Amino acid sequence: MNVVLLGPPGAGKGTQARRLEDGHGMVQLSTGDMLRAAVASGSAIGRQAKDVMEAGQLMPDALMLEMIGARIEEPDCLHGFTLDGFPRTVGQAEGLDRMLAQRGKKLDFVIEMAVDDAALIERIAGRFECCSCGTGYHDTFKRPATKGVCDNCGDTNFRRRADDNAAAVERRLTVFHNQTAPLLPYYEERGILRTVDGMAEIDEVSRQIEAIIESGTSGKA
Ligand code: AP5
Repeated sequence: MNVVLLGPPGAGKGTQARRLEDGHGMVQLSTGDMLRAAVASGSAIGRQAKDVMEAGQLMPDALMLEMIGARIEEPDCLHGFTLDGFPRTVGQAEGLDRMLAQRGKKLDFVIEMAVDDAALIERIAGRFECCSCGTGYHDTFKRPATKGVCDNCGDTNFRRRADDNAAAVERRLTVFHNQTAPLLPYYEERGILRTVDGMAEIDEVSRQIEAIIESGTSGKA
């Protein structure tokens, strides 16, 4: 099954995409993670991405389509994937439709994670991750079981994202409402849009997403 998780910064796309990967083998394709890897590598794309991301703006559609197009060709995507942070504009959505049709694939569901803007600032400002394995944590909502030690790998080094400051988050939210929210009617017209309550607890959001996935696998979508 191929799904898109659609929501503003901090809606919980990455959190739920990782759960779908663990539970269903649906590969998490996060364009944000791909761009952060490019920044870390110091490549030309990475240098461009660093400035764009820190400003809370979007990278060009053509570049993002090329990046995702190459990734979904890889064998691990054959059994399904979750797009996390892509598409983000109508141009990206149209390009994705063409790309999937050429490869004999389709999107099964686009899952909107509905959240309240005010709550997002708190979520994003409290977020941090393990430097070694990337496991995500939150100062309030998801602390490591032992303070300062990663639950998953035991490392004691953590980091916060450069674009997780209040000014950049405000701009990312504005960009979401102006450029990404128009994807909701786009996918509604195609009959594949579903909505979950992104304000619910993480496990409850997962249950709502599971019900959607289940409706697809049992043909009740
Ligand atoms: P990207 O990395 O995609 O960031 P984003 O969309 O802003 O989303 P986030 O990763 O901030 O949040 P999330 O929804 O994954 O939430 P999370 O699960 O971490 O993109 C970064 C930048 O890259 C963009 O601004 C842009 O510049 C560029 N870019 C990326 N893709 C692009 C594209 N396609 N085109 C152009 N440019 C692109 O959760 C947040 C926190 O809340 C966590 O701490 C989590 O533990 C907690 N949490 C999650 N769910 C819940 C819950 N239900 N209740 C309480 N806490 C929760």
